[in-house]
Amino acid sequence: MKKIASLVLGLESSCDDTAAAILRYNKNDNLCGIEILSSIVLDQNSLHQAFRGVVPEIAARAHSERLDFCTKKALTEAGTDIEDISLISVSAGPGLIGGLLSGIMFAKGLAKGLECPVLGINHLAAHCLSVKMIHNIDFPYLTLLASGGHCQFLIVEGFDKFLRLGSTIDDAPGECFDKIAASLGLGYPGGPEIEKHSLKGNKNRFSFPKPMIDKMDSNMSFSGLKTAVKRKIDEIVKVQGGLYPKDINDICASFQNSIIEIFRKKSESAINVFKSYYGLEKNYYALVGGVAANKKIRKTLEKVASNNKFEFFSVPQKFCTDNAAMVAYLGSQKFITGNYTKEDLIPKPRWPLDINAKPMLGFGKRGAKA
Ligand code: KG4
Ligand code: ZN
Repeated sequence: MKKIASLVLGLESSCDDTAAAILRYNKNDNLCGIEILSSIVLDQNSLHQAFRGVVPEIAARAHSERLDFCTKKALTEAGTDIEDISLISVSAGPGLIGGLLSGIMFAKGLAKGLECPVLGINHLAAHCLSVKMIHNIDFPYLTLLASGGHCQFLIVEGFDKFLRLGSTIDDAPGECFDKIAASLGLGYPGGPEIEKHSLKGNKNRFSFPKPMIDKMDSNMSFSGLKTAVKRKIDEIVKVQGGLYPKDINDICASFQNSIIEIFRKKSESAINVFKSYYGLEKNYYALVGGVAANKKIRKTLEKVASNNKFEFFSVPQKFCTDNAAMVAYLGSQKFITGNYTKEDLIPKPRWPLDINAKPMLGFGKRGAKA
């Protein structure tokens, strides 16, 4: 069959990164032929740093001011013109409503002008499918999605089919990295800072809690760990009047070690469930989301996977954290398979991947976030 190459524009504005990407894909071939021509991410770190977290209104304004520039940059880097775009794929949730609206309005306006289709994408699904953008792996596969707002073990059965095996019942690990880094006076985002300081630290100096680690399921909890680390920081500051560089490094290493141990143990539980469900000859375990950028976490989970005869996959670091290439990729695949509806384009602050999974404790009255 003749392959028809087409260009898709991906747009991402669900949190605090404004991103645009151009991908070439083949309209009648969803297994190969993907080429990432450009992926531009404009972070808003300097805008939110003073507030020690993302301010939704500031984020939304920054997205609407930058989407145009970001798209132009992506087009220039890809060496193409806007008229060559035949599909637009935009994050429609879950995320901050202002940012989602900025992205969707921008995408709809462009699509109207270009007379091309526009698809709304679940941002978390895009993270989960990002491994397929880079590696030729088959469904079903097990994934740990660990980011600034979410943490879930999922079985990815298709582009639109997810089975949640476990999830955090409170905070997300990325959020803990960010908050602890802030308490230590390190920069935002906290993940890369803590990873860097951990390299020089002693992971055995502090024994921080690993909540729920002895439960035989793959649910997780991080808020007690976050509080314990903060208490320890306060305690040291009270005694010494401040933190020495060695204290910072040791706290980082010990905290990261607790996260790693939780992931190790819970991955084993999830792997066992996956095996019992499918009994496949070839099994895949994929680590995705911003926290997947952490080399020590990747290495540890690669080992867990290989000990259990699972092939381990992740994506290059720039595609772990928020980006529009993964949004463009999932949009192209949903378009090829005709697997999309108009409702997908409605901005959804909450958009669970597995609608049959029970809301977890701590998700509030409005039900599951994701
Ligand atoms: O996926 P992402 O870009 O945004 C969300 O959808 O949340 O994830 C961002 C999160 C931040 O909390 C950041 O601190 C964390 O990913 N992160 C890391 C690393 N790089 C980014 N966490 C641990 N180690 C890293 N190297
Ligand atoms: Zn994300």
